[in-house]
Amino acid sequence: MTAGDIRHKYLEFFKSKGHTVIPSAPLVPQNDPTTLFTSSGMQPLVPYLLGQPHPAGKRLVDLQKSVRTGDIEEVGDNRHLTFFEMFGNWSLGDYFKQEQLPWVFELLTDVLGLDPQRVYVTVFAGDESLGIPKDDESVEIWKSLFAKKGIETKDVMLGSEEAGYEDGMQGGRIFYYDAKKNWWSRSGTPDKMPAGEPGGPDSEVFYEFPHIQHDPKFGKQCHPNCDCGRYIEIGNSVFMEYIKQEDGSFGKLKQRNVDFGGGFERLVAATMDSDDAYMADSLHDVIKKLERLSGKHYTDPQYQKAFRIVADHIRAAVFLIADGVRPGNVERGYVVRRLVRRAVRFCDQLRVPAGEIGNLVEPIVAQYKDAYPALEEMKGNIRLELVQEEERFRKTLERGMKELARFALAGQAGEGAITAQDAFQLFTTYGFPLELIIEEAGMRGIKQIDIEGFKELLKKHSELSRAGSEQKFKGGLADTSEQTTRLHTAHHLLLKALQLVLGPEVHQRGSNITQERLRIDFSYGQKMTDEQKKEVERIVNEKINEDIPVMRTEMALDEAEKLHAEHEFGAKYPERVSVYSVGPLDSAFSIEFCGGPHVQRTGELGQSGVFKIQKEEAVAQGVRRIKAVLTK
Ligand code: ALA
Repeated sequence: MTAGDIRHKYLEFFKSKGHTVIPSAPLVPQNDPTTLFTSSGMQPLVPYLLGQPHPAGKRLVDLQKSVRTGDIEEVGDNRHLTFFEMFGNWSLGDYFKQEQLPWVFELLTDVLGLDPQRVYVTVFAGDESLGIPKDDESVEIWKSLFAKKGIETKDVMLGSEEAGYEDGMQGGRIFYYDAKKNWWSRSGTPDKMPAGEPGGPDSEVFYEFPHIQHDPKFGKQCHPNCDCGRYIEIGNSVFMEYIKQEDGSFGKLKQRNVDFGGGFERLVAATMDSDDAYMADSLHDVIKKLERLSGKHYTDPQYQKAFRIVADHIRAAVFLIADGVRPGNVERGYVVRRLVRRAVRFCDQLRVPAGEIGNLVEPIVAQYKDAYPALEEMKGNIRLELVQEEERFRKTLERGMKELARFALAGQAGEGAITAQDAFQLFTTYGFPLELIIEEAGMRGIKQIDIEGFKELLKKHSELSRAGSEQKFKGGLADTSEQTTRLHTAHHLLLKALQLVLGPEVHQRGSNITQERLRIDFSYGQKMTDEQKKEVERIVNEKINEDIPVMRTEMALDEAEKLHAEHEFGAKYPERVSVYSVGPLDSAFSIEFCGGPHVQRTGELGQSGVFKIQKEEAVAQGVRRIKAVLTK
């Protein structure tokens, strides 16, 4: 079965059980300022899990694009991926355990042909302190399902890590684990959940790969959740019926939901009897292309990790760029930049000729164009972004490497060492992330790098640049006459409008406001088209006409960060910050870290006239400048 066949079978199976197929939401969350990327199927569905009716009904099925950046460093083994698609089926206050678990079992064994003898399952062991009971109901269901296949089951209480996950398999088939393993919410374990977040116990399915021998470095005894790779999780049914309350306890949600999540490649690989997600054709076609370009073989243990990193990272970059994220120096853009640059370095390790990164787009798009037709339309642009990013990186890499070698030889800290100053220079002048400095130094046999000193310098530097920009900003706002205040509010509206039109990667790089005009410098790599400028003007004027209240809130820094309040890159802020929002915080058009002053309502800007962009020009590579006015 190809990846495409399995995509089809999964969706068809749940359609036959009364589910409606919904499309994947974009990787950049649309109405959720709290996270950089969509990282699970449940994220875009939160309002519906909380009780809002979904237009497509109570039974949904989907394949959600997801990116998990916490996994970047883990990529290279047989199963961790940064980008992946997650199978999901959803009961929004409809069916529950009695239907869900039999369907999952039927799908895996009867429809996809997995061997039930190799299926192991886990359930929640309960937690008295949370007042949540152990999930005996799921155990009973699993028992009868295995019995129908003639498989005898024994259930094993593994409880908490301290209570000895390491007691191991003990001939068990069904395993009780604590909240660390068998509880799911967006934020993780129950203690990490903020008030208002839904979550619940879950039941996971693992598939056994008997040829993999347990490695004691992962623990004394093997068990389903052991990281040795013998048991691989292929699906997780979350019984989402709880909500965290203000006082920290758990209450019942208005409705009982099911949230199933299954990693696409893991499932495809399992049906091929492989524990390697990269054997799924959705990833393997890029690997084949890399084999042709490098003359190396994926099965060669010396190179396997590099093949996987390149395939994973470039695929993730393709999907992120398609969803509007461009390589850059902050936030989402920085993730894409890191992915592409790491991929370039591992291509070098494979001796893939320089300049080939762009040619990896085709085998990826070919795999996905049926499921995501927009990729086909955008592939020229995606390719161009990758080609340009590879070129930029190679230029800095070349210059930086020379410096690095020189530093190491000159040896201010003795030959074979890199000082904090050296590392800082590589960082600021050549854009070398610390990980690259460490890795490259390692390859050159340089043993000593002053990492702590480097971090100190970095901190000091960001404090200085903050002080500098505050000075400038103060200068710009020295005249707090009515007109300047209005322009200041217009400035906030403009930044948000730019992000809406040009992409969420746009951020402020500088600012200056006088009585006559506002000026904003912002990160963006291209000249704006006339249409884009018109659209930005239209949005700002629309917000002025809507007469939205402008509000100041003081809050803890981390709260403001959670709201993704717009702030200056690299700036260091105090523990409590002032935040201005256009509209109430929970539905604001724009939220920025800012000291003010601002108008009370956006409608006041209208008294000075309409918003107009006077000029749009480049000020530095990747930075544009707009001058704009409020004029009659
Ligand atoms: N939302 C659950 C997960 O991501 C299914 O594992």
